[in-house]
Amino acid sequence: MQASKTLYSHFRQYFDQEAKVSAYAPGRVNLIGDHTDYNQGFVLPAAINFGTHVLACKRQDSLINVVALDINEQSVCFDLNDIQYDTRFTWSNYVRGVLLELKSMGFAIQGADILISGDVPQGAGLSSSASLEIALISAFAKLNQFELSGVDAALTGQKVENNFVGCNCGIMDQLISALGKKSHAMMLDCRSLTYDYAKLPDDMAIMIVNSNVKRELVDSEYNTRRAQCEQVAAFCHKSALRDVNLAELAEAKTALDAINPELYQRAHHVISESERTQLALSALNENDMKSLSALMAQSHLSLKEDFAVTTPELDYLVELLSDLLGESGGARMTGGGFGGCVVAILPKGMVAKAKQVIAQNYQQHTGLMADIYLCSAEQGAFTC
Ligand code: GLA
Repeated sequence: MQASKTLYSHFRQYFDQEAKVSAYAPGRVNLIGDHTDYNQGFVLPAAINFGTHVLACKRQDSLINVVALDINEQSVCFDLNDIQYDTRFTWSNYVRGVLLELKSMGFAIQGADILISGDVPQGAGLSSSASLEIALISAFAKLNQFELSGVDAALTGQKVENNFVGCNCGIMDQLISALGKKSHAMMLDCRSLTYDYAKLPDDMAIMIVNSNVKRELVDSEYNTRRAQCEQVAAFCHKSALRDVNLAELAEAKTALDAINPELYQRAHHVISESERTQLALSALNENDMKSLSALMAQSHLSLKEDFAVTTPELDYLVELLSDLLGESGGARMTGGGFGGCVVAILPKGMVAKAKQVIAQNYQQHTGLMADIYLCSAEQGAFTC
């Protein structure tokens, strides 16, 4: 997506010169397949029509000057040769981390003035950080004239999270932000990093409902879940849960329960979710909403009961939407959980009613206001 004239004029205003490159990367919604990516399983996300713009121009020195337009115009300045973690302006760690990774890959990077502006709701589980990382990687590649494939851009973004920001996330968010396709979802095999696109039905809408539950302890809980999954894989003498099936898990249950009963539940979610994701792809391709609806319902229940990452507010939103949609659409929490959003796939003709049901019930029941975004599937930053 092109940056607006207003954004270019903001750049001029802050830096007294014209932006030389611009880059844009979208956020994402995951239709099904959560907490499967770091277990080398399957995911089915789509890039969405919310994203991050980065405008930049080179400097003659080794300074990086960044303004975050939508975070109260906060600005940071640091030297490319002395990149440290910033505890005050934590958003700037994505810029710092991206630069460190690119430098460690051997790319020659020059100082730059940078303006960032985005509209992905923050902390909502719609991958505002992946969209920032991928937009930054694309901008630095253009500015310093090097090429990177979409998959390598995604792997670089993931390393920023894993090595610098401190979140042990998988590859899904960065990969869909880099390689999403307009009007399509992406079936991604998180082991081989191969993918196929699946056309979204024209008569269906993708609705995202933000519970507006403040997400707390997300990174530490996330990292704990990942460690538990890895513990089960190691217990089964496999490199990842991708290689463990439900029968093998059942055999290990008694021994796992003796260590910690959560272990079986966590692994049960991951293995069953990866299977559901593959079934959901077939359902989507066959326009079989009845099956998709059932799979999304099972996914939510599994994330609630086995993986324990939903909240009462997310559960309530899913209940409201599922009751309304029946077998003509599906709803589930999306992303990492612990707050954030619910995604629904529903006939376009039911959108108004769904909005009404949420408006009439959610605030009364939870004391929180929900935000609703109607989304379209969009191109990634590196999609040809
Ligand atoms: C976060 C992570 C992803 C993925 C999801 C859960 O968004 O960044 O890698 O693990 O949670 O599916």
